[in-house]
Amino acid sequence: MRNWQVLASSALIALASSTVFAAQPALMPWPTTYTAKDGSLSLDKPLRVDASGCDARLTKAIDRFRAQLTAQTGNLYNHQPVEAKDNPVLAIHCAAAGLPVQAVTEDESYGLAIDPAGVKLTAPTTLGALHGLQTILQLATWAPKGWALPAVEIQDTPRFPWRGLMIDVSRHFMPLDQLQREIDGMAAVKLNVLHIHLSDDQGFRVESKKAPKLQQLGSEGMYYTQDQIREIVSYARERGIRIVPEFDVPGHSTSWTVAYPELASDTPATRVVRNQGDRQQPPLDPTNEKVYKLLDDVFGEMAALFPDAYFHIGGDEVDPKYWDKSEHIQAFMKAHNLKNADALQALFNQRLLAIVTKHGKHMIGWDEILVPELPKETMVHSWRGPKSLAVAAKEGFNTILSAGYYIDLMQPASQHYLVEPLSGDAADLTPEQTKHILGGEAAQWAEYITPENADNRIWPRTAAIAERFWSAASVRDVDSMYARLDRVSTELEFLGLKHRANQERMLARLAGSAPRDLVSTLSNTLEPVKEYERGETHEFDADMPLNQWIDALSPESDAARIANNLAAKVAANPSDAEARRDLRRILELWRENDLRLQPYMADSWPLQSIAGFSPALSQLGAAGLQALDSIESGIPVSAAEHQAHLAAIKAGEVHRAQLLLAVTPAVQSLVGAEKVTQ
Ligand code: ACM
Repeated sequence: MRNWQVLASSALIALASSTVFAAQPALMPWPTTYTAKDGSLSLDKPLRVDASGCDARLTKAIDRFRAQLTAQTGNLYNHQPVEAKDNPVLAIHCAAAGLPVQAVTEDESYGLAIDPAGVKLTAPTTLGALHGLQTILQLATWAPKGWALPAVEIQDTPRFPWRGLMIDVSRHFMPLDQLQREIDGMAAVKLNVLHIHLSDDQGFRVESKKAPKLQQLGSEGMYYTQDQIREIVSYARERGIRIVPEFDVPGHSTSWTVAYPELASDTPATRVVRNQGDRQQPPLDPTNEKVYKLLDDVFGEMAALFPDAYFHIGGDEVDPKYWDKSEHIQAFMKAHNLKNADALQALFNQRLLAIVTKHGKHMIGWDEILVPELPKETMVHSWRGPKSLAVAAKEGFNTILSAGYYIDLMQPASQHYLVEPLSGDAADLTPEQTKHILGGEAAQWAEYITPENADNRIWPRTAAIAERFWSAASVRDVDSMYARLDRVSTELEFLGLKHRANQERMLARLAGSAPRDLVSTLSNTLEPVKEYERGETHEFDADMPLNQWIDALSPESDAARIANNLAAKVAANPSDAEARRDLRRILELWRENDLRLQPYMADSWPLQSIAGFSPALSQLGAAGLQALDSIESGIPVSAAEHQAHLAAIKAGEVHRAQLLLAVTPAVQSLVGAEKVTQ
């Protein structure tokens, strides 16, 4: 690993000295080694492909590659002869085809050489070739004479073999075409596991032929047919992505007990949960042999449907109260010398492991399953904090990290980006123990997502997490990440993701008849509240429309980040005239906006819901401008003015409509740097 770190940083230096392409290429994840060469390859003509050794997935991948390059550039490659002899060659060679079922251990590396005559892409297996094509797409850029690829040599190998995205389809169902879009996005940033959370209190989302009551009574009609599952598995495989199914037991299982009430530890709900639900409903009864019979039937059926070697059994957040208060469960525990609910769940997990193993799978579960009795063949999915990742690895369990990658919590890309799997306790592991850390998964829980806003929740932040899983640990420059993320975000839109397009229409719906520029000036400074604050004030409810500002606005505001960075720059270096000028323009816009927007507020319910922010933003703008004047002129502000500035910041910190003003840090920086008369 040390080697890669050195190579990665020297690649960045080599890049900086390249004279051909001024900007850093928008590669994400950043490759293991990147050596810029002189010159470039013009994309005026379509590339003529000469492929050998790869499996059939490559042929389709080349079709997608051409379509994507056409979308990104607007060049009409599909109108031009592809096979003309004087076209530059894209030579692709795989040393071997991929495995029939993609494995965690499969070699995904590739090498790429681009010069003015053509492209050479080589890989040990088809997987590397698929990744290499994505890299070429990210390299395509405007050059002075047209679209081109920079001359470059790249060697690229992922740091972790398990690079995932978990999507909950239980709390809000996600139609197949949406999952396909997310898979396209995943492939673009070299993620390789889609973990689908298929059952929870709110829904059982796959057709079972062995136990059809599960989807009949547990899904409200929203589930994937087995044909659709086969379709999505195949769609993912063609893009180098494994699908790991999760069926969460024994807790989070109301969708099972609606269909089979006799299997619950207490009287269960008669219909699936349509609100938060966690811990409110009884788990499956681990003392009931019929539970294992049903799990054997259904898991056997699902194991055949999902070819991946791994099978996720959930295991999180089991409420012990139902087991503690049940006479027959207590009697069972006494008879089997089980001290507490954890011991009972451990016994349940051992029975599950036998079932999952019998059906040819490795079992994986959330970190609650990590107890001394857990057999070592089980894999541990760390979510409550990174400690369980290190403990699991130390004890010899394979493990992956999702703590720090919960993208439903509305944190900025930078926060997730800097979560390093091999830090904290995990940094002290031996190399042998470290090998048990296979990677991680971004996790998108679905209380507050619909097909309309899901892409905006998942993208582009997941691309930054993908870089954490793929690239060297030393690749962690936040400014570079954001500069590349912005362009990757555009690439994802050309690929068909709708994180920007759908947001545009949701914001248009909210703006109504008010001028968009005025509404945007305000809404661009707002962000959804963070962590679990939304659920604490307004509990999730499946009937609640997700059409509010909080549903439309991005988890992080680019405009706010830019303003906050500019202000920090000015505070640190008041002589930076360019930063001062740019910042002044922004602050003036904020200060003037309220007066112009007010006439539209009264008639619009959505605007009224954020009306309180409008004067607060104007006051922040005014305070920021006075602080900036003082910083520029060196003339101190009075103590009373300083107090007024602090009051404007305080007023800017109030949350409304589950939103916050994300630009108060900008004014905080300026007011912190202003001189005050003594
Ligand atoms: C979880 O977030 N309950 C795994």
